[in-house]
Amino acid sequence: MQEKNVYLNGEYLPLEEAKISVLDRGFLFGDSVYEVIPAYAGNLFCFEAHLQRLNDGLKAIRLAVSYTTEQWLDILRPLLIEGDAQYIYLQITRGVADKRDHGFPLNCTPTIFAMCSPIAPLAREQGVQAVTLDDVRWQLCNIKATTLLANILLRQKAIDEGSAEAILIKEGYATEGAASNIFAVIDGVLITPPKTNEILPGITRDVIIHLAKANHIQIEEDVISLDALQQASEIWLTSSTREILPVTILDHEPVGNGQVGSVWLAMQELFQEYKQVVV
Ligand code: PDD
Repeated sequence: MQEKNVYLNGEYLPLEEAKISVLDRGFLFGDSVYEVIPAYAGNLFCFEAHLQRLNDGLKAIRLAVSYTTEQWLDILRPLLIEGDAQYIYLQITRGVADKRDHGFPLNCTPTIFAMCSPIAPLAREQGVQAVTLDDVRWQLCNIKATTLLANILLRQKAIDEGSAEAILIKEGYATEGAASNIFAVIDGVLITPPKTNEILPGITRDVIIHLAKANHIQIEEDVISLDALQQASEIWLTSSTREILPVTILDHEPVGNGQVGSVWLAMQELFQEYKQVVV
């Protein structure tokens, strides 16, 4: 594979030469936000939407970085590598303070890091297993923060149990996956939990809602109880790196008939077409 540089604070350099201070607040506190932006055939997918979410996150954590869309594109485009599907990882930390202190200095220079990686191909047609786990995260899940200890522990527990993802349950309702949003087909209707502070407002989620509405697939943004999830005929996980991944086994029981469903097949086709034409 073609070797490419990463971006760090205005410079492009080999990954092994990209270094940050141990006093960087991203390292010490996870005081930072990030984006994962897929690119297909060299085009950054839904770039404006990713940028909007990044700016919302920066505002929420009170970090002032105000590059224009064009400035961001100038920074990120040179990172793109050859290949059909890849993603840019972009992280902005509050930067290096002169001492470790929970309260943050108002005059730090943010650290900006970005790199590009291939998106691993997935055999989606077979479906994956998922397990439900207690959503033990905090109350600001709408911010795409790098402070992801709860998410990684939940994902790893799912992996330890032979599953691809943990579907998180809060007070009897499904919120999202450890690193994905969720959709379920219940009584023929495609349902996804509404945007609240309990979920990340996924860009893939928005694309699916748009495609459903444009193609007469009945879609609702509504809560999904654990009971309803267990009765669903289809369950999907969605994210920028996994796209739309059907769950065929939930908590060791088949979802619907245990095969990928007809609504997923229809949406998969729409999504594959859309991602090639929309930037
Ligand atoms: N994660 N919810 C959570 C908690 C996530 O971490 C992600 C994506 C999503 C889906 O968002 P989007 O469709 O915009 O990718 C939902 C990325 C891929 C990651 O952390 O690597």
